[in-house]
Amino acid sequence: MSVKIIVGAQWGDEGKGKIVDLLSENVSIVARYQGGANAGHTVVVGGKTYVLHLIPSGILHPGVVCVIGNGVVLDPQAFLDEVAFLESLNIKVRGRLFISHNAHLIMPYHKLIDSLKEQGASRIGTTGRGIGPAYIDKFARVGVKIVDLLHRDVLVKKIRSNIEDKNQLLSKIYHSSEINVEEIVEKYLQYDKLLDEFITDTSLYLNQALKEGKSVLAEGAQGAMLDVDFGTYPYVTSSNPTSGGACTGLGIPPTAVDSITGVSKAYTTRVGNGPFPTEELNDIGETLRKVGGEYGATTGRPRRCGWLDLFSLKYSVMVNGIEELALTKLDVLDSFEKIKVCTGYKYKDKPLKSFPLDLCTIEDIEPVYETLPGWKTEIAGARSYSQLPHNCRSYIEFIEKYLETPVKVVSVGATREETISR
Ligand code: GDP
Ligand code: IMO
Ligand code: MG
Repeated sequence: MSVKIIVGAQWGDEGKGKIVDLLSENVSIVARYQGGANAGHTVVVGGKTYVLHLIPSGILHPGVVCVIGNGVVLDPQAFLDEVAFLESLNIKVRGRLFISHNAHLIMPYHKLIDSLKEQGASRIGTTGRGIGPAYIDKFARVGVKIVDLLHRDVLVKKIRSNIEDKNQLLSKIYHSSEINVEEIVEKYLQYDKLLDEFITDTSLYLNQALKEGKSVLAEGAQGAMLDVDFGTYPYVTSSNPTSGGACTGLGIPPTAVDSITGVSKAYTTRVGNGPFPTEELNDIGETLRKVGGEYGATTGRPRRCGWLDLFSLKYSVMVNGIEELALTKLDVLDSFEKIKVCTGYKYKDKPLKSFPLDLCTIEDIEPVYETLPGWKTEIAGARSYSQLPHNCRSYIEFIEKYLETPVKVVSVGATREETISR
């Protein structure tokens, strides 16, 4: 049994796409376990940039099988568009891409409700992809599942009953016009044929593959600090990006997991609202955004930027069980004279012992920083650890020591080649 989990260790966009693509070279299967088309995973190969929202980042390796697990909420149109996009670039996906029959579908009313909710005062700053409302329906036991596409009567009944409910909600709470049932029924009846060849029992498939000795890379979306249980609630996504989510989101046992890698940027970013203790709302944040190209891969929104928050990262290492780190975007720090890292939080002048999970505390904490010297040298050309400048290595080693976790991969640019393995 060999499952390696790749998790985002911060607030998403850590560079999971690049790292999963890299590690896919030596695995049989890459499987996404949660989230939906809210994710935007970028892979840069051969001068081309691919942004994947639903399809695992292993798809660019022709010999790898890709799985979209039961924990994902799947927007069928977004999925088909992504298949078409890859096929337009001559990437063969049919026959090696599977969707769990047990995953839930994103429906047009999920996206509508997501956008209407975001018009209120307590905006989360969601991606607008219908994620929260789809997971609400899943847990309210009224969701429409992929397997329902195969049973037309069930599908139509479920859609009609859902829309009846949603129309009440829409007119009473949002004063919005009603959703047209027939249009949606007709559209979703067609997805049966279009998706049929991709649908299978992926939990069974994965467990059989593991039994045969095949290796699986479990690809998380979002990041630990956006986890619905462990993140900065309510400013989170509606699933479990943390490593535990990989087992429930794929239908594999915890005993099959043999390693967990966390991906972290060398600084911190966040898209959407919510607490961000090390945010730099000044020239420093601007420089990070500009040099790091920090704009959302899904929505294009500018990402909020700030120094590396080791205090939250240590918490993330704990809740995920991260055994090794991939540190990305180190090159973005090349120009800084001095680099700050947050090594603790103070609340009412007292240092906190653990990461606070109530919004009142976290919104009121003061980050404690240490300042390290920058390296003021371009590092994108470095291909071995020893080629990195002394101060850059000291920065990495400071992180390792604080987190008590080794940095096994150092990323110095967006391409596959711009990587140092240790
Ligand atoms: P993901 O959601 O975790 O897969 O990350 P995103 O793809 O949303 O955002 C990461 C961005 O950083 C993408 O544009 C990547 O191409 C880029 N990237 C990844 N690693 C590096 C790196 O080491 N250096 C630089 N400059 N860019 C990187
Ligand atoms: P990847 O996989 C960064 C954020 C949104 C918002 C919150 C809830 O590319 O790292 P949602 O649409 O999920 O209900 O929005 O979560 N968010 C992400 N931030 N990277 C992502 O994915 C994200 N997916 C959702 O901005 O703050
Ligand atoms: Mg992203």
